[in-house]
Amino acid sequence: MTRQAGPDAGTRATQPTATIADGPRGVPLLGNLPAFGKDPLAFFEQLRERGDFVRWRFGRGPALFIAHPDAIGELLTEVERTFDQPDLGIAFRTLLGNGVVVAKGADWRRKRSLVQPSVRPKQVRSYAATMAECAVSLADRWADGQRIDIKKEMAALTQLIAVRTIFGVDTAADAESIGRAMDIAQKEIGAEFSGIGAVLPDWVPTPGRARIKRATAVIDAEVSRVVSRHRDGDTERPDLLSRLLAARDETGARLSDREIRDETVTLYIGGHETTSSTLVWAWHLLSRNPRVREALTEELDRVLADHEPGYDDYAALTYTQAVVKETLRLYPTIWLITGIAKEGATLGGAPVPAGTRVWSSQWATHRDPRWYGDAETFRPERWLTGEDGEPAEQIPEYAWFPFGGGPRVCLGTRFALVEAVLVLAVLARRYHLDLATDDIRPVPSLTLQPDRDVHATVRARG
Ligand code: HEM
Repeated sequence: MTRQAGPDAGTRATQPTATIADGPRGVPLLGNLPAFGKDPLAFFEQLRERGDFVRWRFGRGPALFIAHPDAIGELLTEVERTFDQPDLGIAFRTLLGNGVVVAKGADWRRKRSLVQPSVRPKQVRSYAATMAECAVSLADRWADGQRIDIKKEMAALTQLIAVRTIFGVDTAADAESIGRAMDIAQKEIGAEFSGIGAVLPDWVPTPGRARIKRATAVIDAEVSRVVSRHRDGDTERPDLLSRLLAARDETGARLSDREIRDETVTLYIGGHETTSSTLVWAWHLLSRNPRVREALTEELDRVLADHEPGYDDYAALTYTQAVVKETLRLYPTIWLITGIAKEGATLGGAPVPAGTRVWSSQWATHRDPRWYGDAETFRPERWLTGEDGEPAEQIPEYAWFPFGGGPRVCLGTRFALVEAVLVLAVLARRYHLDLATDDIRPVPSLTLQPDRDVHATVRARG
């Protein structure tokens, strides 16, 4: 049966095009909320099995799940026009202020255009040296036979990279004090996002919200100290903060101190855990797939021969890039993007009633066998192009969207890809990591996290 998109769109007069399936029957009042809360990843896969457009019940409001890449593309490209981003909640607003992730409308456009130049490929080239340097010093510390906790090691490494590239601090003490406060705030935001805080009104005080406030006060003091030091000194430093301090909008106005604070913290929070979890999943997948691991090290030995990797090697490291892309396919650290329909919104050619919350999930679409052969298999080769220049697999646009898309596409895409490729290249060139257990499950919180510590033994190569 063919019906219009949107939970109660069957009553509309417009010609229907999209087929809407019914989601699983929910429970009275709460609808599908219990099933979603119990295992959101399995729940979205279950919705995907029912169709490309699926009506479901998330609490009281109308909700529509979309699985088809074309519809996902429409949703992402229409954000800020016919779809609104949902409010991220009090926890995010406390920590990120009105940074580019939180801002909307004209304010968001201004901020995005001010921040964007600081993460362009030309600038990422200058951050790449710091990324590789931090990874090399970690590789120098590891030793054959050592037991490590990969989660901790990757979090510490990406934290060091983030504080050094964003704030330009070069002393370990500075990096540690900013990093520690960020860790506390990030942990509390994760707890708020996946716990009771997600459904409580903003005005309800909770211990978690109080902890976020305290951590934010520490972050504010630290950032303000670093900003004053930058203002007093050399503004030609190759860090993001210096670029933001030099940025001007079309009227020639600079970002205020408050805005600088909001954007630097936003870039840190947007980029740290997402990249660190991606690396953890990559090690997990490599440890389970010796054939891929061999192909990776073959490329690293061939391309890098006797030098440590740098930005100029990025383009030649095609297999390493494919490993990162395939990791982000199977374990997309941002696993869910939603939008709220405004008047005039359509999907698949049919109207979506205003107020409908539309849900897309990278997890569900990235594992759809219609777009990926052996969808559950880790196969980086699918991202390579053959000698004829043709891709190995024809993958539709928006069947892979770990960084979102459209006007709000991740500002740190290039930054994150270069960081993940360089870190993997430095470390995998010298070591294999053998994981102690295969049985690691993803837990969807703010980002997709392994459900336990990930212990491994470091094995020096050759
Ligand atoms: C593997 C790593 C990363 C992943 C998977 C990721 C994913 C995403 C996604 C899916 C969005 C869009 C969210 C939406 O449409 O609602 C986004 C936005 C954003 N990301 Fe990333 N990100 C990563 C790394 C980074 C890094 C390293 C930075 C900063 C250096 C960063 C900064 C941002 C910012 C500022 C936005 C907001 C853009 C806007 O609203 O205009 N991200 N990211």
